[in-house]
Amino acid sequence: MQIKHVGVIGAGTMGNGIAQVFAQSGFTVTLVDVAAPMLERARASIDKSLAKFVEKGKLAAADRDAALGRLTTTSSLEELAAADYVVEAIVENVDAKRALFGRLDAITRPGVILSSNTSSISITVLGAATTRPDRVLGMHFMNPVPLMTLVELIRGQATSSESMQVAVDLCAALGKNGVEAADYPGFIANRIQMPMLNEAFFAVMEGVGTPEAIDAVMKGGMNHPMGPLTLADFIGLDVCLAILTVLHDGLGDPKYRPCPLLRRMVAAGHLGRKSGRGFYTY
Ligand SMILES: NC(=O)c1ccc[n+]([C@@H]2O[C@H](COP(=O)([O-])OP(=O)(O)OC[C@H]3O[C@@H](n4cnc5c(N)ncnc54)[C@H](O)[C@@H]3O)[C@@H](O)[C@H]2O)c1
Repeated sequence: MQIKHVGVIGAGTMGNGIAQVFAQSGFTVTLVDVAAPMLERARASIDKSLAKFVEKGKLAAADRDAALGRLTTTSSLEELAAADYVVEAIVENVDAKRALFGRLDAITRPGVILSSNTSSISITVLGAATTRPDRVLGMHFMNPVPLMTLVELIRGQATSSESMQVAVDLCAALGKNGVEAADYPGFIANRIQMPMLNEAFFAVMEGVGTPEAIDAVMKGGMNHPMGPLTLADFIGLDVCLAILTVLHDGLGDPKYRPCPLLRRMVAAGHLGRKSGRGFYTY
């Protein structure tokens, strides 16, 4: 099947970036969210991001207008009946994702691949909520999507090689590099990254250093482009907690135990950049 029309579900931090890169690369995009304000916010961030590309001379104004013209937003999932490929980017919650995959299976055409941008949840479990587990895979974009070139591609237990190849080719069409990972909690990226962020949360909690000091050490001393606490605020502290919970439950090792300070901040609604307050204020 030739892929021309892509459905993206979830218009938060990741969904809007994913919709943007597909639209910029010539695909027709339908962006779906249950929350109408999120769709308005997504449009505004896409406008802003494309404007920056134009300002820097990396995108012609006419191409920006064409990309925006290929994007529609809606709160009706049924509009994905016409989609050729789907990327799910809703909350990192297995029950919500399973329910959505069941609905997508009923709405989309049988040959359509249903992919998930999940950071940690089992692709095999999501595939099992459908009648097409061979066409369910992980397409884990990195944040911020328009700038990051890597996409982690996750092969579930039942995902076919043909489906994986479609995802590899799509990454190339987006100017990105797809790298395959097996379906174990956290895959490659978050299995390795999250324990480091969690350690930084424990270091703040225990008073080893202030967020500023910890970020300065990791930036200047380890050459990380961004300190771990700035990065956690950028990812979203609720997303970090959800990923650590999946790693802890799925791998059983206490080293993945989410830091109590992280739990406390999420309970207080201090979710990082998106809520205006996390380890830093915005
Ligand atoms: N934040 C990151 O840096 C990052 C990086 C890579 C992957 N991810 C993954 O991407 C996914 C989305 O994360 P995010 O940070 O964009 O979350 P977010 O909280 O910013 O956005 C989630 C969006 O999904 C919408 N939503 C929730 N349930 C829905 C449903 N049933 N149907 C339609 N829309 C629904 C919400 O209204 C919200 O707009 C998660 O699986 C997360 O693990 C996040």
